[in-house]
Amino acid sequence: MTKIKIGILGAGKISDIHLKTLSENKSVSLISISDLNLELATEKAKQYGIEKIESDYSKILNDPEIDAVDILLPHHLHYKASVDAIRCGKVVICEKPFVTKLSDAKSLMKTAGIKKVSIYLKHYLRYSASHSKLKKLLREKIIGTPYLAKCFYTCNSVAEMNNKKSWKGNIKEAGGGVLMDAGVHVIDFLQDIFGNPMSVSSECKQVFTKLKTKGEDLAMINLEFPNNVMAEITCTSNDTSYGFRWEKHVFGSEGSLHIIDCGKDKNELLLYKNGKVVIRESEDDWWNQTNKNILNDIISKIINKEKPSVDLNTAYVGLKTIIKAYESAKAGKRIKI
Ligand SMILES: NC(=O)c1ccc[n+]([C@@H]2O[C@H](COP(=O)([O-])OP(=O)(O)OC[C@H]3O[C@@H](n4cnc5c(N)ncnc54)[C@H](O)[C@@H]3O)[C@@H](O)[C@H]2O)c1
Repeated sequence: MTKIKIGILGAGKISDIHLKTLSENKSVSLISISDLNLELATEKAKQYGIEKIESDYSKILNDPEIDAVDILLPHHLHYKASVDAIRCGKVVICEKPFVTKLSDAKSLMKTAGIKKVSIYLKHYLRYSASHSKLKKLLREKIIGTPYLAKCFYTCNSVAEMNNKKSWKGNIKEAGGGVLMDAGVHVIDFLQDIFGNPMSVSSECKQVFTKLKTKGEDLAMINLEFPNNVMAEITCTSNDTSYGFRWEKHVFGSEGSLHIIDCGKDKNELLLYKNGKVVIRESEDDWWNQTNKNILNDIISKIINKEKPSVDLNTAYVGLKTIIKAYESAKAGKRIKI
């Protein structure tokens, strides 16, 4: 079987789960890895048996041996790396957010359209078992007509948000704070179950972060969806005691569905009807599993020439929602998306 030959762009924190998953996938051959920090790239290359190590990622883009690139770079580099990769004839896999500016999104969509290529984005929440089950139960109308969702994200990025040298949360390089970094996932999840949001009002604040170069460390977003569904998202990067967690609650006319955090790497899906718990299912090791699920699905879709599960139009509306949320926070009013 011919394997997809992949080059990795960026050997930072998220690269470990990508490298582990791709190295275990029998349809993939990891050929090269690039990072400005050559020591880091070399360390990962050794660990995963990757032969070519580059500090300049354009060497990977111009390498005829490479079929696809996996872009794991800071946010502001996603646009250029994706456009250049498409122009070099490579298939693009890219971490979220796919770009940080609407003008870049439009330009990337135009390039992808002209070259007739797809970009495979890593919007991973859709690939968690509890999320898929929640979506299935919603479709089966098990809670009747949904009218409200409440989503909650926390992490502890206080050190990075207060570090001038870190690109994370930096408006120029990250495109914003916790909403751009993590809110992008929950907006995608809500788009998946309710369609595209129509309007937004929001409050975005710096609470623990005082650096002017950084974005918000607390974002509270209110979204209006079709069919009279409202959603609230609260994201903060200031949870110094608990750290990373996602929670989601969907309320309907005949019950409610909840995905709750149950300690490290464990989620639980609950269905309440008539005051009773009707379904309780736990999902262990969910973060690793969900990342593996989406990366393996992307590889299978590339091999079978199938379209990505998140198309660029959907990602564009997701990004627009974030940009409009920032505008709403500044203007102090509700804004159409
Ligand atoms: N889906 C998720 O759950 C998840 C989680 C964490 C991060 N991410 C995303 O993954 C991406 C990377 O995040 P990270 O946490 O690994 O960041 P990171 O800072 O740890 O890694 C980024 C790497 O890119 C390298 N780099 C910067 N400029 C470069 C250049 N011009 N050429 C080559 N290498 C360059 C840096 O040296 C660094 O090692 C971001 O888009 C982030 O939002 C996704």
